[in-house]
Amino acid sequence: MRYKIVTYGCQMNVHESEKIAGLLEGMGGVPCGEGESADVIVFNTCCIRGNAERRALGNIGVVKAEKKKNPDLVIAVVGCMTQQSGTAEMVKERYPYVDIVLGTRNIFDLPSEIEKVRASRAAVKKRSDKRYRAFRTEFAEDYLTLDEAAPVARTSFPNAWVNIIYGCNNFCTYCIVPYVRGRELSRPASAVLDEVKRAVDEGYGEITLLGQNVNSYGHDLAGGESFEKLLREIGRIEGKFRVRFMTSHPKDLTDGVIAAMAESDRIAKNIHLPVQSGSDKVLKDMNRRYTRDRYFSLIEKLRAAMPDIGITTDVMVGFPTETEADFEDTLDLVRRVRFSNAFTFIYSPRKGTPAAAMPQLPYAEKRARIGELIKLQNSITKELSEDYVGGVYEVLAEDVSPKHPGMLCGRTESGRLATFPGEREMIGRFVNVRITEARSASLFGTVEE
Ligand code: 5AD
Ligand code: SF4
Repeated sequence: MRYKIVTYGCQMNVHESEKIAGLLEGMGGVPCGEGESADVIVFNTCCIRGNAERRALGNIGVVKAEKKKNPDLVIAVVGCMTQQSGTAEMVKERYPYVDIVLGTRNIFDLPSEIEKVRASRAAVKKRSDKRYRAFRTEFAEDYLTLDEAAPVARTSFPNAWVNIIYGCNNFCTYCIVPYVRGRELSRPASAVLDEVKRAVDEGYGEITLLGQNVNSYGHDLAGGESFEKLLREIGRIEGKFRVRFMTSHPKDLTDGVIAAMAESDRIAKNIHLPVQSGSDKVLKDMNRRYTRDRYFSLIEKLRAAMPDIGITTDVMVGFPTETEADFEDTLDLVRRVRFSNAFTFIYSPRKGTPAAAMPQLPYAEKRARIGELIKLQNSITKELSEDYVGGVYEVLAEDVSPKHPGMLCGRTESGRLATFPGEREMIGRFVNVRITEARSASLFGTVEE
């Protein structure tokens, strides 16, 4: 059984696809090679913005031809998109050749659903058995048990993704995630620690702890678990490795977490801290539960504790209540904080969320705002990159450079991407790179022995 997994969306989905790969390999599957035709195709979807959804649907449309050529092909659509109300029905109607649709919390049923589709085809010689499972709206009791037991086929050596908390309780008014990923559910600390230890033993140099809001880790567990405590325990694991984590919510980032980051040389001096907007009014309408002053004070604390910390963010423009003056406040915040990088988004209405029911701004206005924001951030990123030139930084050789043949790429502790000449055999090693050139967000250099 040759399988292909097509992944959309965030790191969480990338890692979930590694789990899906583990499940498929557990039933005898092997990854489909270049030019080979697949027996099973899984689309692991995202619905955070309209274009993520359109991309997935476009590609699900394209496999119709493949299915025609190979009627035995099993096509599954899983992940966030399917969990939205009405979407499973829509897929059933518009893409009738899709065999299996599963929600985010039914994923461990994938092998048995595939077996059922194949068995019914073999038995009745017709191809009508469709598996659209009734979606669980909350995590089932057994979710964590199944999750711990499921094998993971990691695909991104030397980076290991490790889930620490699933779901989100925050309900930012623009965001679909709490509806499709359900309420927060923390993994037991012992399970997280075991997984990190295993990955370090296997030679993974970088561990990224994943959660929609890592800072709320542990509040649902007994025994006073917290993200700070977890970070400190991970910091005591033996071996040469770095830990990153994402995503942090500014309302929950504690002084204790900042101290734990500063005190451990295993925790990378790098944080992704989405601000979304620089206007107090918009932050309130977004239900973010912090002010721009609180955000500035977090930035100050982080930099006071870790002067070289790399801080990245997410910024959204065109939220329904954002005026030109609010947008100016966002530009002002971006100018003052000087993020090493910012992921910028045009607000996209998501059905069923409070903000989608508000009167919307014209698209042209949103476009103009994001253009201005990107231009500002690019100039800041470029200036900050130039500060790296001449310095020597420890970089984990992570991969061959996709754009520069004969070169490798990896990140500095602060999270900046560096490209340097090197052989494939070096992947997984920490090397010292002297930065010789900065091109906007990318740094170039050579390895120093
Ligand atoms: N429209 C645009 N961007 C969004 N994000 C979340 N929901 C939306 C939406 N409806 C952005 C936020 C978040 C990032 C992962 O995606 O900036 O931090
Ligand atoms: Fe969405 Fe807000 Fe939860 Fe992040 S914290 S996943 S933006 S609801």
